[in-house]
Amino acid sequence: MPRVLSGIKPTGKVHLGNLLGALQHWVADQYENDSLYCVVDLHALTVPQDPATLHETTLQLAQILLAIGIDPEQSTLFIQSHVHEHIELAWVMECTASFGELRRMTQFKDKSETADFVSGGLFTYPALMAADILIYDADKVPVGDDQRQHLELTRDLAIRFNSRYGETFVVPEAAIPKAGARVMDLQQPTSKMSKSDDSPQGTIDLLDDLGVAARKIKRAVTDTETEVRFDPVAKPGVSNLLSILGACTGQNPEDLASNYTQYGPLKADAADAVVEVLRPIQKRYAELSADQPGTLAILGQGAGKARAMAAPKLRLVKERIGLLGI
Ligand code: AMP
Ligand code: TRP
Repeated sequence: MPRVLSGIKPTGKVHLGNLLGALQHWVADQYENDSLYCVVDLHALTVPQDPATLHETTLQLAQILLAIGIDPEQSTLFIQSHVHEHIELAWVMECTASFGELRRMTQFKDKSETADFVSGGLFTYPALMAADILIYDADKVPVGDDQRQHLELTRDLAIRFNSRYGETFVVPEAAIPKAGARVMDLQQPTSKMSKSDDSPQGTIDLLDDLGVAARKIKRAVTDTETEVRFDPVAKPGVSNLLSILGACTGQNPEDLASNYTQYGPLKADAADAVVEVLRPIQKRYAELSADQPGTLAILGQGAGKARAMAAPKLRLVKERIGLLGI
């Protein structure tokens, strides 16, 4: 079975775009692959974090992943910092990457231009991400388009290491979902729905009250026409509602358009579909929140399984590069 690995940072809330664009695929992938999913808390440290908030959002994100259907019997679910081998391999990756390569990463350039404090970790972040992936010999890495460059670097580092020291790492492939999976902001349908707090009415958090979520859909910006047609350029708001309805019900947005002659019924159906997706997630999330020790036990088992894979690989790497073992 191919091995799949992905990671998500515990920063901010998890929204409908994350679910429909990424996390839903994680759930589906776990039945056809040997899958590993990790909450990358060490990546969150690249920018300043409040300790109490980080602690809470890490646990909450793990519970959300379980609530959406990541099944610990099918997948290895763990917290990155529980498997210290990632950091040891990250140092090796930092020494495998060149300064020039890291400096060319567009995410670093964008983030470092606007940040007040640019940590060394923000610069070396892609080496840690490469370690997360290579330590498990992952074949496929489902990520958003914004991570394409980091994946390319990961591949280059694997190839370089293999050619210097002999075959050690699998060279992974990025699995980037098709553009259709992009969920747009409900108030500004030409921008992506996102974690930032600027548009609370445009973003549906997975833990939003169901009535609030339905109202956000019903108040979504459309346009002054009345025709329902899937045309993301000319009709971004209406097309976004069709995409959301389609992604929630497993239908094609173009086909759905022909069922509607007015915006009202489309909004009502999209709101119902979102509520029906969120309802079971929130029910399961509430159960998990009431049983923190249960969640920690699942994460402990996940970390144990992950370490059993990571430790022998790290040992091999150390041997290959000439570190003295005892
Ligand atoms: P982020 O929230 O940017 O850390 O992204 C986590 C994952 O969710 C990545 O795989 C993103 O590509 C995906 N994602 C984030 N926002 C959206 C969106 N509006 N529509 C679809 N996928 C998204
Ligand atoms: N950098 C990724 C992001 O910002 C998160 C991430 C860290 C990741 N390690 C990973 C994703 C390993 C996939 C595989 O979204």
